[in-house]
Amino acid sequence: MDRLPQLRTERTRIRLAEAADAPELLRYRIDNRAHLAPWEPLRDAAFYTLAHCAQAIADGREAARQDRGYPCLVFDPGGAEILATFTLANVVRGAFQACHLGYGVAAHAQGRGLMHEALQAGLAWAFGPLGLHRVMANHLPSNERSARLLARLGFEREGYAKRYLCIAGVWEDHMLTAKTRPEG
Ligand SMILES: CC(C)(COP(=O)(O)OP(=O)(O)OC[C@H]1O[C@@H](n2cnc3c(N)ncnc32)[C@H](O)[C@@H]1OP(=O)(O)O)[C@@H](O)C(=O)NCCC(=O)NCCS
Repeated sequence: MDRLPQLRTERTRIRLAEAADAPELLRYRIDNRAHLAPWEPLRDAAFYTLAHCAQAIADGREAARQDRGYPCLVFDPGGAEILATFTLANVVRGAFQACHLGYGVAAHAQGRGLMHEALQAGLAWAFGPLGLHRVMANHLPSNERSARLLARLGFEREGYAKRYLCIAGVWEDHMLTAKTRPEG
């Protein structure tokens, strides 16, 4: 694979998950279950098992190999603890050169600018080595933290989609935002 993210920022290390990350990914999922639940699809019990984490990692690496998506883990600088995750999903090439962005940060790591720091690096990689032209990110109208984060990153509102994603078991309306590759 010649197109994998290996990024460093002041407070993070960012890369695709590897098979050995399964126990730490499971810990992240369990510790942040209540924190992330209002903003994500319903998760069944299997989601909180080592086997599911191992399969998700294998699926993620296969998606990256096929240039379909890049699920990234954001570690502390020592590479021990997952602080956040983000995914460049649904990559479409051709005339579109676009993807969707999803993200979340550990409850205890919120409010320190870490997600912003990680996504700045992730977006530079997406618009640089990955060669994308457009990244789309959509959020619940009630998710003000997410709206503020996207605005700070330079995403612009493009629309409002009714009953767009099934979040926590309900088809929810979403704000549609996007950022295109900075010119020059
Ligand atoms: C949405 C979410 C990722 C935002 O995380 P966050 O930590 O607030 O985002 P940032 O990294 O941009 O941090 C910004 C916050 O840190 C504060 N901050 C502190 N030090 C900072 C620094 N050095 N740089 C920037 N911001 C800093 C800012 O004031 C800001 O606080 P505010 O949002 O209360 O105004 C997080 O709340 C989350 O994971 N939520 C659950 C999952 C979710 O909603 N995912 C997105 C679905 S669309």
